[in-house]
Amino acid sequence: MKVQDAVVFVSGASRGLGLAFAHEALRRGARKVYAGVRSPTETNTPGIVQVKLDVTDLASVAAAAAQCGDTTVLVNNAGIARLTSSTLDSAMIDVAREIFETNFYGTIRLSQAFAPILAKNGGGAVINVLSDACWHARPVLAAYSASKSAVWSFTNALRVELRNQKTLVLGLHVAFMDTDMTKALEIQKTSPRQVAEAALIGIEAGKEEVLVDDFTREVKRSLSDQQPMYLNPPAIA
Ligand SMILES: NC(=O)c1ccc[n+]([C@@H]2O[C@H](COP(=O)([O-])OP(=O)(O)OC[C@H]3O[C@@H](n4cnc5c(N)ncnc54)[C@H](OP(=O)(O)O)[C@@H]3O)[C@@H](O)[C@H]2O)c1
Repeated sequence: MKVQDAVVFVSGASRGLGLAFAHEALRRGARKVYAGVRSPTETNTPGIVQVKLDVTDLASVAAAAAQCGDTTVLVNNAGIARLTSSTLDSAMIDVAREIFETNFYGTIRLSQAFAPILAKNGGGAVINVLSDACWHARPVLAAYSASKSAVWSFTNALRVELRNQKTLVLGLHVAFMDTDMTKALEIQKTSPRQVAEAALIGIEAGKEEVLVDDFTREVKRSLSDQQPMYLNPPAIA
């Protein structure tokens, strides 16, 4: 499909990768971008329409879908990360529940609300923002990794089903990006603009999976090794 003239709905578009998606879609000729944000602002960027959205709230998702019936590309981007001290942390279950509510159930809610809209508008595409962390888990990020593995699995099932309505489902895997989520980390990071660009080029090429950076490609490649990376995930710093 073409991004030119597309109507793109991006969840979590207030900042970070979501904002980069909004701008990159416009740069590539999208007709309109719906920026799903928890707290709409007075900012008025031509081509960008802010839509109030909390992905943890079914009524909010339904209202956004009702408002954005001309959407042709859905970007499931909204996400949170929380650290625990270890997998044995007493807060682990509460933290995992909080993360899953946004990353996993939020993606399901939006996918279910927008799939009929995409079908009605000719098929279009869904981009689900995943991670290298689908395929390895550092102890302090165990809940986050589990959520992204779960979204990866859901993405794989969704893809099979939405092929019937000619909707392309693209899994977007990326390691650390330069956003608020990683601002405390002194590590190599990919620019969110580069990530958004890779995903949008991906849907134009009909790709069902995009691995943005070398590290992510190496993590996935190693899955079938004798010593896959998930047995000894590299330390963050
Ligand atoms: N940064 C990385 O290194 C990295 C790597 C791989 C994958 N990812 C994934 O990339 C995606 C974007 O992350 P980011 O790095 O851009 O993070 P970010 O800068 O922290 O931005 C997160 C965005 O999600 C929104 N959001 C959070 N909870 C929400 C909710 N309940 N409803 C609606 N919006 C919500 C935030 O809105 P508010 O402004 O209202 O908080 C914000 O717009 C996430 O899915 C993340 O897991 C990130």
